[in-house]
Amino acid sequence: MLPREAVPAGPVVLRPLADDDTGAILRACADPEIVRFIPTIPAPYTADDARLFVTETAPGMWDAGGANFAIADPATGGWLGGISLKAPDVRGNVEIGYMVAPWARGRGVASAAARALTEWAFRQGTHRVELVTDLENVASQRVAMAAGFRREGLQRGAGPLRDGGRDDLVPFARLATDSGEPQRSFLPDLPGGSLSDGVVRLAPITPADAGAYQAMMEEPEVLIRSVPPQAPDPDDTARRLRCTGMWWLSGERAELSVRDAGTGEFAGHIQLMNIVPPLGQAMIGYSLARRFRGRGFMTRAVDLLCEWAFASTPLYRIVAGTAPDNVPSHRVLERAGFTQEAVIKSLLPGLDGTRHDDLQWVRLRG
Ligand SMILES: CC(C)(COP(=O)(O)OP(=O)(O)OC[C@H]1O[C@@H](n2cnc3c(N)ncnc32)[C@H](O)[C@@H]1OP(=O)(O)O)[C@@H](O)C(=O)NCCC(=O)NCCS
Repeated sequence: MLPREAVPAGPVVLRPLADDDTGAILRACADPEIVRFIPTIPAPYTADDARLFVTETAPGMWDAGGANFAIADPATGGWLGGISLKAPDVRGNVEIGYMVAPWARGRGVASAAARALTEWAFRQGTHRVELVTDLENVASQRVAMAAGFRREGLQRGAGPLRDGGRDDLVPFARLATDSGEPQRSFLPDLPGGSLSDGVVRLAPITPADAGAYQAMMEEPEVLIRSVPPQAPDPDDTARRLRCTGMWWLSGERAELSVRDAGTGEFAGHIQLMNIVPPLGQAMIGYSLARRFRGRGFMTRAVDLLCEWAFASTPLYRIVAGTAPDNVPSHRVLERAGFTQEAVIKSLLPGLDGTRHDDLQWVRLRG
């Protein structure tokens, strides 16, 4: 059984729950983010649910060999959130979970609490602490990384949803033997959330862009240049755009919308993918919706993204591949500072089983 003691956690303290925490728990559990990302708690959440949690669920976790703490303000003792460890699974691994009240978010409470409780678990003899988040719960993925957890792939269909469906979960773990250093993405956040030269604006693409993105990908000039040369299934598009925050944070790829800086309208898509940190190399790819073509939008977008990448990441080479007859794309790359480097024979799948050469371009740092 784990000791029911207070655990200092930087700006907060972890302490066992008290009966008068129920009011704050009740208020916090009405928060839409908590309802969305913790599908195992009742919704709507009632005063009886809060009372049951304090008097039965939390003590039950301790009795089963786990732990369940309030995250509290050290000055007032007030409840700011909850954090728990499940009882060890059959392999002796322990899962951590947390929530922070809306009124205490954005000031490092969850990261400090997760770090402190994980290190406390190590002192109690645990070797591995696991943590899972929703695919779109970027705030919680950031908490995990700030608390020294490393991402370990994707658990397909592992998460039950309130509507009876299933969703993928993003697993993280921290080992007692890990350094505990906060994990940093290869791709830092954009300054102020976007890049702009006053004409175009690049911002991380989101599920709200799905309709405009899908319509663009179905334009014949776009789909013929896609790999493979076909429009994506709308369900795949919706899913893909739900993953983009996670990809950015894990450093896998940067996926951005290109917008008209004046109106904010979706004009196109640009990405950095195939990121190979040891080589300092990534590939750029892009598509512009028909009605925004002919205005230099994509040249500006490519230049903005390359300038940011060379200034903010260790990338040394940004490469691009085009079909040898894709003249508009060649012009974009030339104007954005790329030079031709090589022809890769029969790289691109074409229609009806044909294959086409790929003209490779590069822009170097500096
Ligand atoms: C996830 C949650 C616990 C974060 O609590 P918090 O105390 O605000 O987190 P922190 O202040 O420690 O922030 C940690 C990181 O998240 C980032 N962050 C916070 N809110 C964010 C948001 N809405 N979107 C994106 N990033 C966010 C912070 O900038 C910080 O990033 P950094 O370390 O790179 O600077 C809180 O939002 C919450 O309770 N959400 C609902 C329940 C939930 O999701 N629980 C976790 C289930 S796995």
